Amino acid sequence: MSKTLERWGSKRAFILAVTGAAVGLGNIWRFPYVAGENGGAAFLLIYVAFVILLGIPVMMAEILIGRAGRRGPMQALGALAVEAGASRHWRWLGLFGAFTVFCILSFYSVVSGWSIEFLVASINGNFRGASAADIGAGFDAFLANPGLLVFNHTLFLLMTMVVVAAGVAKGLERLNNLLMPLLYGLLLLLAAYAATTSGFGTALSWLFLPSWEALTPSVVLHAMGHAFFTLAVGACALMAYGAYMPDEQSLPRAAMAVAVLDISVALLAGIAIFSVVFSQGMDPADGPGLMFVTLPIAFSELPWGSLWLSVFFLLLLLATWTSAINLAEPMVATLQGFGWRRSVSTAIVTFSVWSIGLLSALSFSTIVDFRPLLGRNVFELVSSIPPDIFLPLGGLLIAIFAAWVLPRGTAAAALGVGERGYLCWRHVVRWVSIPLTLMVLLSGLL
Ligand code: PFF
Repeated sequence: MSKTLERWGSKRAFILAVTGAAVGLGNIWRFPYVAGENGGAAFLLIYVAFVILLGIPVMMAEILIGRAGRRGPMQALGALAVEAGASRHWRWLGLFGAFTVFCILSFYSVVSGWSIEFLVASINGNFRGASAADIGAGFDAFLANPGLLVFNHTLFLLMTMVVVAAGVAKGLERLNNLLMPLLYGLLLLLAAYAATTSGFGTALSWLFLPSWEALTPSVVLHAMGHAFFTLAVGACALMAYGAYMPDEQSLPRAAMAVAVLDISVALLAGIAIFSVVFSQGMDPADGPGLMFVTLPIAFSELPWGSLWLSVFFLLLLLATWTSAINLAEPMVATLQGFGWRRSVSTAIVTFSVWSIGLLSALSFSTIVDFRPLLGRNVFELVSSIPPDIFLPLGGLLIAIFAAWVLPRGTAAAALGVGERGYLCWRHVVRWVSIPLTLMVLLSGLL
């Protein structure tokens, strides 16, 4: 397959697109509740350390492969491996990435569909004055309603795939350029509002003053897994975006900018959520329901609560939208690499993700007893195994390919920072990121 000629229109467009991929459920839904369950500041510190030691270098490896190959992930890996005199079988890593994003998107679309439902409900003022018990029961009733869940999953997936079908410049780039600044604006507004609540001070000390006794091996593991998920690293999804990266752009600078933007969203979202939670005297360790149950309860009692809650769910929806587009792109690019037209590739991906997503949507009702593996239902399986195991495994192989298999000249040129910069990056990947990732993975499997 010939190389793609598509490019992001500017350096900024590339950074916004990758930030759009990184910022999503991971920052706004997963970070607060995982941090809540894992001791707050201690988790935050370790997670930031992993983003630096492992997330950024592996992200650079992944984008570098895309930029050197300038094709869909599977085709890029195959072509580069042959050029390097290595086995063509490296291309299967691209297919594994496509499988990983396929699984992730199938549940991601379902949870993002919840945010559509909650956005509409908060705009309608449904939570105003409701008791905590009512809101909790309302969430359970929503999950048990297969029709609503399937409807929202379908709607979200269609929103995503329409943009993907429109292509890189007309679809992905336009949406990211529009939404990412809006998202930051909304988040800053929400954080400013949080600063006026009585829980602000407690939230800050809870997020930034670590108590080291909270630091257990499992906190370390969660923090490592989360670094992959939140940066969108390990599924060849950023490789697909790297293929359209402008020639003159500095890759390390772009990767670092994205990491800073990504962490800042998690922090701002954390500050906003925990200020509200603490100001209502609620429990920060409330698990995945933190956002969908605790927040509506907390906001329902605050002045202008419905408005702020609507802003929050709008923010969540925008963030998940740009991530879902990134999740879809490597599958579409891979199919295009087999010679399919973009529209046809998009249709195939949409239909397959939608069908498998049904199993996740129905995991709370119709097929609640269908537990094919490890006693977990489909939703629990696809929302835990691909993020916790497939992403680190993919990231490990991507790092090995970039730092050990790719010839020095090719990799250094794609990294675009000169010989010394390349050697420094390679040293970190070979001796820090790869061993660390291996550790995450082994402990994840055990
Ligand atoms: N980074 C996204 C989030 O934080 O929600 C999730 C994600 C996107 C993971 C793309 C993996 C991926 F390839």
